[in-house]
Amino acid sequence: MSEVSLLLRAPSANRVYAQAAGALSRAEAHWVLGAHLGVVPALRERRIGGMGALEVRRPAPAAASAAPDHRRLDALLATLSGTLGVLDVQQEDPAAPESPLLRPRALPDVLRHPSDLETTLRYRGKTNEQFTALLVNLAAALSTRRDGLLDGTLDLLDPLCGRGTTLNRALRLGLSPVGAEIDRRDVEEYRAFLGTWLRTHRWKHTLETTRLTVHGEQLGSRTEAELAPDKQTLRRGDGQRLTLLGCDTARLGEVLPARSVDALVGDLPYGVQHGGRADGTWQRSPLEVLRTAAPGWRSLLRDGAGIALAVNRRTLDHAEASAVLADAGLRVLSADGAFRHRVDQSIDRDVLLAVPDDHPRADELAALGTDQEDQIP
Ligand SMILES: C[S@@+](CC[C@H](N)C(=O)[O-])C[C@H]1O[C@@H](n2cnc3c(N)ncnc32)[C@H](O)[C@@H]1O
Repeated sequence: MSEVSLLLRAPSANRVYAQAAGALSRAEAHWVLGAHLGVVPALRERRIGGMGALEVRRPAPAAASAAPDHRRLDALLATLSGTLGVLDVQQEDPAAPESPLLRPRALPDVLRHPSDLETTLRYRGKTNEQFTALLVNLAAALSTRRDGLLDGTLDLLDPLCGRGTTLNRALRLGLSPVGAEIDRRDVEEYRAFLGTWLRTHRWKHTLETTRLTVHGEQLGSRTEAELAPDKQTLRRGDGQRLTLLGCDTARLGEVLPARSVDALVGDLPYGVQHGGRADGTWQRSPLEVLRTAAPGWRSLLRDGAGIALAVNRRTLDHAEASAVLADAGLRVLSADGAFRHRVDQSIDRDVLLAVPDDHPRADELAALGTDQEDQIP
């Protein structure tokens, strides 16, 4: 068994994102593997045959008597954003660092649905799919129920779900996600897409939209979907579920059960207009959205939950956002700029990682932020 593996990344469809992909995948691996394994493996970016790769040195097991858990590490590597494949290094030649002797490593199947679920819908303002997978992995890793990412039991919420990029990633991972979106057009487009996709792929399913009412007040719409490979599974209620709430995210605390979420993943409004999408939802600043929504989100989280929020550093300051989250009982773990990358002229993106302030592993996870020596420049 080789000590060193190389993670090959799928080439990004997005040119801007491709430039940041190496550094972002290293930061992702630092947090995700560190949180899951309790120890951060040595990581380094390399070039292999002209392609970017992330070198992962398999960590020794925590106890001398324990066997290294290669299956778990393999499953984690397979979920990391943009993983194309993993190659084990059999032999290194110092004279030719770009061409070590490599052997392909068979990874477990961690995705239940094909990639077209994530890639078919294209629209202005869509969050990049690879970056969305990174957000999902980070939020899940911070949760004490992190293994649920691999067995389908992790409860995930995207409270700003747009046309469902996060929900689609979660479905591919076998989860049963919940999303909320205020823009009716987005909700309708996503519902229509999902219905078509389910029919095209011949999944047995139900898909129903009703009014979303709380104490007699109509807040918007509620769409519930269930999908299964066969009728029996669907009849038993053992399929995957998806809930799509067409409402203001600030009302979610009234709509969803308290302490029901393990991983909260969101791409906050950037505070800039995306093309023609200058509707009312863009009037509120990202900080205002966070201020009004954070207390409700907090009430939905289990004690050991994890949060990953994408933010535009130009319109949402790290210190201000951290203060708003702290007021709601949430502790930010990641430093300003820990996942910094440029999207375009008006978007300088970063990720805020946070946990409820009584999270049982908060201090240990916070240490991952301070020893992230390879911060993105
Ligand atoms: C950056 S976009 C997220 C895009 C999404 N990840 C996707 O790929 O489609 C932010 C989303 O937050 C939504 N939004 C803004 N304010 C909201 C609110 N108060 N309640 C619910 N959704 C809101 C916007 O309509 C927008 O779709």
